[in-house]
Amino acid sequence: MKNELVIVLDFGGQYNQLIARRVRECGVYCEVRSYKTPLEELKKLDPKGIIFTGGPNSVYDESSPHIDKAIFDMGIPVLGICYGCQLMAYTLGGRVETCSVSEYGRTETFYDKSSVIFGAVESLPESDIAWMSHTDFVAQIPEGFRITAHTKDCPAAAFENAERRLYAVQFHPEVNHTRHGVDMLAAFVKNVCGCKCDWNMKDYAKTAIEQIRAKVGEGRALLALSGGVDSSVACALMSKAIGDRLTCVFVDHGFMRKNEGDEVESAFKDRNVNFIRVDASERFISKLTGISDPETKRKYIGEEFILVFEDEAKKIGAVDFLVQGTIYPDVIESGTGDAAVIKSHHNVGGLPDCVDFKEIIEPLRLLFKDEVRKLGSELGLPDYLVWRQPFPGPGLAIRIIGEITREKLEILRDADLIFREEIANAHLDREISQYFAVLTDMRSVGVMGDGRTYDYTLTLRGVTTSDFMTADFARIPYEVLEKASIRIVNEVGHINRVCYDITGKPPATIEWE
Ligand code: XMP
Repeated sequence: MKNELVIVLDFGGQYNQLIARRVRECGVYCEVRSYKTPLEELKKLDPKGIIFTGGPNSVYDESSPHIDKAIFDMGIPVLGICYGCQLMAYTLGGRVETCSVSEYGRTETFYDKSSVIFGAVESLPESDIAWMSHTDFVAQIPEGFRITAHTKDCPAAAFENAERRLYAVQFHPEVNHTRHGVDMLAAFVKNVCGCKCDWNMKDYAKTAIEQIRAKVGEGRALLALSGGVDSSVACALMSKAIGDRLTCVFVDHGFMRKNEGDEVESAFKDRNVNFIRVDASERFISKLTGISDPETKRKYIGEEFILVFEDEAKKIGAVDFLVQGTIYPDVIESGTGDAAVIKSHHNVGGLPDCVDFKEIIEPLRLLFKDEVRKLGSELGLPDYLVWRQPFPGPGLAIRIIGEITREKLEILRDADLIFREEIANAHLDREISQYFAVLTDMRSVGVMGDGRTYDYTLTLRGVTTSDFMTADFARIPYEVLEKASIRIVNEVGHINRVCYDITGKPPATIEWE
């Protein structure tokens, strides 16, 4: 039986995949497509609803994305968000103008609960906070529509033509800052589009496996396995799809945590997959000698990874596909189209110009971390793999600020292990999304015994997050931090000061480099 589908039409907004993910959370499969997708193609996909995203443009810009008016006559419900809302108004004969006061951030919004989008959300009060981000606004709604929400500065914060099942909201229901926003999207999906909402990760796995089989055919694939959640789930999916035509290569770059290489090997050796462990630590460490710039480190590591894989692929022979466990936050932060590059995640950026594989397969590219975990459980992976905290591809190389040396790697490994042990002893390991130590390149004066020391400052970092796009610093009890700090200074050489990072993301990122 075919799954219900909602299409998110991408007009260049920042939150497009987040909208898709929210719809999937409602139990409806959702994909993002370009606004340029021909209407015929959209029709063939037979979606239960279409959502227009936001975007950076003004509808009056010559280069701004537009849409064929006929989309509103296809009988498919449409929800326009932000730019999508303005575009709907403009295309159907309304008027869009520049705001005299731009609205940005949390904004008090007054809802008309006779609208199904708001009325179906029982807990939504008549005025609540919505997240706005716009400099244009709808000054006049199209004929046949009615206004269903307003703010102090925006007379048409939502409008609709219920008969034609066309809805528009100026604010962003998909972001957490809009209170009850996710419920409003659910109301659109259920009450307007009439979805049964019976899709789940099992269906995702089934479809993904079919797509992988169709793509790989009788070919062979090589998977970059780090032992982290993402590549482990990609491995489970791929091995269900193509069995022993998959070979997993675990590159030990020498930047793994204490004992991690052996742990990964033992986790996969018995899992009925072709598993190869490559000790490439000499190669990586000598390539990074003298490098302290974070982006250069990432780029070199990414390049070296691919070269090692190419070498392994040649040894195996006739490998067409390289599989990577890239997930959506990796894609967005490495920059897509006009989006800014924050960090080049090693499994996305840094590819050499000429890659010796026919194609790269990234079966998790659309998913967020928690969705990947759900998928992993669905595929029968054990909890200790599914619930491993994330570890970045470049490993400890980006947790040593400045130049990497073998001595610093040893210091960081030992300190990081102690911190992890103390978090586990305090039973916080499932509560904190990610926790690790960072070795800074700063040294300071201390006193130990009766003597002066001049040693490194170590920083501990713990964050809570659901999607790793934004994060809070974890409120770790002082006693746990104190215990870790005392043990680290006593048991690890060359650290005489331990700090705890209390910055969220934004403005910081989770990793330090
Ligand atoms: P940031 O530091 O960008 O990290 O806030 C967000 C999440 O991504 C992980 N991360 C990476 N994962 N390759 C990966 O596979 C990378 O190059 C990489 N860099 C950061 C980070 O650990 C956090 O979970």
